[in-house]
Amino acid sequence: MISHEDKVLILGLESSCDDTSCAVLLNGKMLANIAAAQKIHEQYGGVVPELAGRSHQQNIVPVVDAALKEAGVNISEINAIAFTRGPGLMGSLLVGVSFAKSLSLALNIPLIEVNHMQAHILAHFILSPFDGAQGDKIKLQPKFPFLCLTVSGGHTQLVRVADPYTFELLGETIDDAAGEAFDKGAKILGLPYPGGPLIDKYAKEGNPEKFKFSKPKVPDLNFSYSGLKTSLLYFVRDHVKENENFVTENLNDLCASYQKTIIDILIEKLISAAEQTGIKEIAIAGGVSANSALRSAIEKTGKEKGWNVFIPEFQFCTDNAAMIAMAGYFKYLRKDFCGLDVAPLARWGVEKGI
Ligand code: KG4
Ligand code: ZN
Repeated sequence: MISHEDKVLILGLESSCDDTSCAVLLNGKMLANIAAAQKIHEQYGGVVPELAGRSHQQNIVPVVDAALKEAGVNISEINAIAFTRGPGLMGSLLVGVSFAKSLSLALNIPLIEVNHMQAHILAHFILSPFDGAQGDKIKLQPKFPFLCLTVSGGHTQLVRVADPYTFELLGETIDDAAGEAFDKGAKILGLPYPGGPLIDKYAKEGNPEKFKFSKPKVPDLNFSYSGLKTSLLYFVRDHVKENENFVTENLNDLCASYQKTIIDILIEKLISAAEQTGIKEIAIAGGVSANSALRSAIEKTGKEKGWNVFIPEFQFCTDNAAMIAMAGYFKYLRKDFCGLDVAPLARWGVEKGI
């Protein structure tokens, strides 16, 4: 077992979708977290896997250089390389995995595979360089066991986290993810990709009670979002037949009402999961946790239910390498390393990988 007292520098690499990111963490404290977003996908209305892989190839070296420079760390000081093994787009993952293997071989340091969905959750443990320094308090972190609602572009999951190495999937989406509901809904409303942040923006000016969309009836702790997206499609189609300007005239109210339905579904399931498990330590994670209405809804529900609520900083909601390095640090403490024969996994359950 490696002691927490040792100085451990982890370099994290994230390339599962359309952000190329590199971070450097010193014992869980973030020294640098650099990401290159890929603008190219906007014109196609979604991530084009082939283009994402090519952009990662172009971005990865400059992004790693920039992270090391910002951290003020020489590459020879790094103790281990943590990388996203999956889940994600195969062509995108391949770039990060191959790069991580080469670095580990060249520097003769351990390689640590990280499950992207576990990393989103463990982002709650990333410390800033000021945490604990000069008498400052260390930021509050969820106590184990806690519940995490992970809402990203590809996943919607309710996870019971027993410790940094034990994840139990309590429920997940049976079709579209919450992030997809945002992005596909935005497309129906004529907004560019990724539509989630735009729906968030327009919804702030709209009335969430103006239009009603029916919620799916899914048993247990699973979710379903494809029906909601289709009901928005038919609703818009029917109204546009009568008034071709219906969407532009009602954009704010449409965004607010649609967003409210997405969030109500998430909150209802989260309440059920908290009641069923008796857990009151509640966290959210993933790209959709950047949504302002979801953040306030969780805060409000948390006050009503007596939960301790944990909401990530914006920089740790969407894909980032700091969360990969954090998950890598936990594994480093257990000397949980992988070999150079490791291959990316497009699908990889949140319970796996430890
Ligand atoms: O976690 P993430 O960066 O990537 C995946 O692992 O999928 O999540 C991306 C998703 C996209 O669907 C994007 O529209 C959504 O997060 N998103 C938002 C907001 N910011 C990002 N959705 C709603 N409101 C936001 N403010
Ligand atoms: Zn993600």
